[in-house]
Amino acid sequence: MQLAVLPGDGIGPDVINAALPVIETVGLPWALEYGDVGWECWRSGGDPVPPQTWELLGKTDTCLLGAITSKPAREAEQELPTCLRVNPPIYRSPVIQLRQNLGLYANVRPIRDLRNDQFNFVVIRENTEGLYAGLDFRPVPADLWEHVRVHPNAADSGREETAATIRLQTRTGIERLVRFGFAYAHSHGFDRVTVADKPNVLRASSTLLRGIVESIAEEHPEIEVEILNVDALALWMVTRPERFGVILAENMFGDILSDLGAGIMGGLGLAPSANLGSSGSYFEPVHGSAPKMAGTGRANPLATILTIAEIAEHHDFPREATTIRSAVRTVVERRHSSDVTYDLGGTATTTAAANAVLKEIER
Ligand code: IPM
Ligand code: MG
Repeated sequence: MQLAVLPGDGIGPDVINAALPVIETVGLPWALEYGDVGWECWRSGGDPVPPQTWELLGKTDTCLLGAITSKPAREAEQELPTCLRVNPPIYRSPVIQLRQNLGLYANVRPIRDLRNDQFNFVVIRENTEGLYAGLDFRPVPADLWEHVRVHPNAADSGREETAATIRLQTRTGIERLVRFGFAYAHSHGFDRVTVADKPNVLRASSTLLRGIVESIAEEHPEIEVEILNVDALALWMVTRPERFGVILAENMFGDILSDLGAGIMGGLGLAPSANLGSSGSYFEPVHGSAPKMAGTGRANPLATILTIAEIAEHHDFPREATTIRSAVRTVVERRHSSDVTYDLGGTATTTAAANAVLKEIER
């Protein structure tokens, strides 16, 4: 298998360098090819995902990404070289480009309690539409304004001073996600699928979603299905996390719920993810690039190591995936101060924490 490795920027290279030796230690026969992505590519050439990187993604089987800095439009433009500032390109978050351009519609974010084994569920986030569809307007275009201006606040502010974002929900997008969710429940032994929504407020889109969920659920009588208000779901994720199996969520709801899930696991330093589509995929730790922490040796490499386990599982190396996960679990359960990074209460550097896992694997 050919694995593209895109370390990215910030702590991306730190966690990737520390985690990669796991591949060889556990005996995964993968060939690695490195590529560039992220903030430095934007600063030098105005394109955070340069053409060579798309080419690399086209010829490899999957990709491991470290972390990438995403900044709002104005900050991004200010960091461009002068020659590009006259007619500046638009900064589009590289991870969103990868997810949308490669059609990676399911963002799988497992939430496992490595410390006390009290819960084990997964947030599967719709990855291509919802509030991330890119339909985010200011000023509001004239044809859309016809609908928006009936709101008294919009009428009062006028078209130029109103922004509007469309939460795109399509049968295409919802159906494939819900099918994926049920298949995942089957293959991973979960007996409940919970769909996060807001049916008491977003009535039209919720009705579309509900119809699709109910008809697919009929094909899976052995799996319990529920649609919960996303706010209640957030509360229960904290108070009753053991009740969940597969959670399906619209893009933005899933973005928020998966960070919450990471919080109850012990932090973003432990949260892996897989971005899957009908053909392609890429894998990344859920955490961001934390630019201030870059190069300090403080970043936790365990999320990246667990992400390697996700790649292994997805590419038919279940034994290696299990070995990696149990090694991480042992290190986290034991929590020797010299084996875990500061976020888990330890004093280990990024490399020392990864080495603790390597040592467990070698056992
Ligand atoms: C994530 C991140 C990204 C997102 C950002 C960096 C664009 O928060 O992967 O959860 O919002 O999807
Ligand atoms: Mg996020």
